[in-house]
Amino acid sequence: MLNRRVLLGAGGVVATAAALAWPIRMATRPEVSTAAGGQAHSGSEHILRMGKAAMASPRQAAEPFTVRMPVPQVARPVRRTSDTDVYELDLRPAQVEILPGTTTPALTYGGTFVGPTIKAKENRKVQVTYVNRLDKPANVHLHGGHVPPQSDGYPMDLIGVGSAHTVEYPNGQAGATLWYHDHTHHQEAEHVYRGMHGFYLIEGADERALGLPTGSRDVPIMLRDAHFDAAGGLILDVEHPEARSTLLANGRPLPYFPVDAAKYRLRLLNSSIHKIFQLDLGGVEMLQIASDGGLLPEPVPRTSLTLAPAERVEIVVDFSRRPLGSKLVLSDTNGPVMRFDITRRVLDTTRVPDTLRPTAALPTPTTTRRIKLGVAPSKMAYAINDLTWDENRVDARIPNGTSEIWEIYNADTVDSEFGGIDHTFHLHLVQFRVLDRDGKPPLPGESGWKDTVLVRPGERIRLQATFRGWPGRYVYHCHMQEHNVAGMMAQLEIVP
Ligand code: C2O
Ligand code: CU
Ligand code: CU
Repeated sequence: MLNRRVLLGAGGVVATAAALAWPIRMATRPEVSTAAGGQAHSGSEHILRMGKAAMASPRQAAEPFTVRMPVPQVARPVRRTSDTDVYELDLRPAQVEILPGTTTPALTYGGTFVGPTIKAKENRKVQVTYVNRLDKPANVHLHGGHVPPQSDGYPMDLIGVGSAHTVEYPNGQAGATLWYHDHTHHQEAEHVYRGMHGFYLIEGADERALGLPTGSRDVPIMLRDAHFDAAGGLILDVEHPEARSTLLANGRPLPYFPVDAAKYRLRLLNSSIHKIFQLDLGGVEMLQIASDGGLLPEPVPRTSLTLAPAERVEIVVDFSRRPLGSKLVLSDTNGPVMRFDITRRVLDTTRVPDTLRPTAALPTPTTTRRIKLGVAPSKMAYAINDLTWDENRVDARIPNGTSEIWEIYNADTVDSEFGGIDHTFHLHLVQFRVLDRDGKPPLPGESGWKDTVLVRPGERIRLQATFRGWPGRYVYHCHMQEHNVAGMMAQLEIVP
C-alpha cells in the first residue's frame, strides 16, 4: 500500500492530487527502468531534498506590475535552403533574471528561461541541431508537432552530454501555436520546471489572407507557476505544488505589458507541470480564435478560459474598446497574472473574420479504445489502464492512416480513496477532435483541433484522431508532468 503519510496534508486531511505525485514515484522506484543511463535517479533525490529546504525559506512573491513582460526572442536560422530553415540550438545551464535584481540558475534552450521562438511556415521544413551542453542527458519534444518518430523526442531517446542531435520537422500541418520542451524520462518535470520550454509557431498558408493582427501585435505568452527560495533559486517541492505561488508570464513575475489601442493576437500557453489556470480579463471579451492545433472554424467569445498544462489558446483582445490609459488585468482564480497597459492610439486595420478555418468531416473510425487514467490498483503509482510506463510494452498498435475513437476516463473520482484528481490527456503525433464530454457537446473553444485535453475526476471524454504518419513509437500521457514521471504514460506504435 501507498505510504499513508504522503497522503496527509498538514491538517491531517487527505491531500489532493498534487501531494500524491512524486511520493508515489518514489515508492515505485525499484521497478523503474534505468534506460536513461543511470543518471535519471540522482536528480529526483536532489529534488526531494530541495523540497525540504524549501519550507524553511520561502520567498515573498514579487510586487505586481513592476517588471515589463518580455517577448521571447525569435530564433534565427543559421542557413536557409530552398525548402528548409536550418537552426542550431543548445541545451545549457544559464543564470537568468526572473525576479527583479536576482539571478536564478536555470536549465535552458539557448540561454534564456523561455527559449527562443522558432517561427516556421506550413509546408516549409525546419531542421534543428540540438547540442547538449548540460551536465546530464536530455532531449527535445515538439509538442503538437506532426513529426517522424526519430524527431519526436521519445523519452528514451536522449542526447548525451556534449553530443548533438539533428531533427527534422516537416511542418506539413495546419498553422498552430506549438511548443518544445524536454521529455527525458523521469526528468521531464524537473527539466521543464527549470526552464526547458519554448514556443514553436507554424504560420498556416491560409493565415495571411485573414487579416488577423500580426508582427508586434501577435504575442506568444507562456504562463506558468514557480516557487523561489530566498536566494532566487527555483524550488521543486513535489509535496507542495501549491507553494508555487509566483505566477510568471514569459518568465517574469506578474509583469505589465504596454499595448497599443488595437487588436492583439495573444497566444497563451500553460507550461506549468501541474497548475491549471482559470483566466479572465475582468469581464472583457477574449475572442478565442485557436486551440492547440490551430485556428477554430469560427471565433468563440469567451470571458473566462481554463488552461490546463500544455494547452494553448489564442485569443484576440481589442484594446481599442477601452479608453487610453486603461489597465486590464489578466487574472487567475486567486489573483493577478499580468497587466495590459493601453498606452498609444493607433490606426488598426486588422480584423477577425467570422469564419477562420473550415474543419473537414472526420473519417469513419475503425476502432474504439478505452483509456483509463488513474491511480493503479496497487496504489503505488499513477497509471493508464492500470499499467505504469514500460518502454518494452506497446499499448496500442495502429495501422498507419486509420482513424480511431479514444474514450478517456478519469477514474480518480471524488469518492475514490485519494479524492478527485484532475488529469490531462495528451497524444503525440496527431491532433484530435473532441467528440463529447460525458455525452454532452465539447466545451466552448473545444470545437477545433486539440492535442491535450483536461479530464476532470469521473469525466469521460471521447475524441477522434486519424493516425497518419510514419511507422514507429510515440507516447501518450497525462501532461501533469508530476503524473507522467510517476508512470501515467503509455505508447502507441504506428504500423505499416
Ligand atoms: Cu508536451 Cu509528451 O508532451
Ligand atoms: Cu507532446
Ligand atoms: Cu494526471
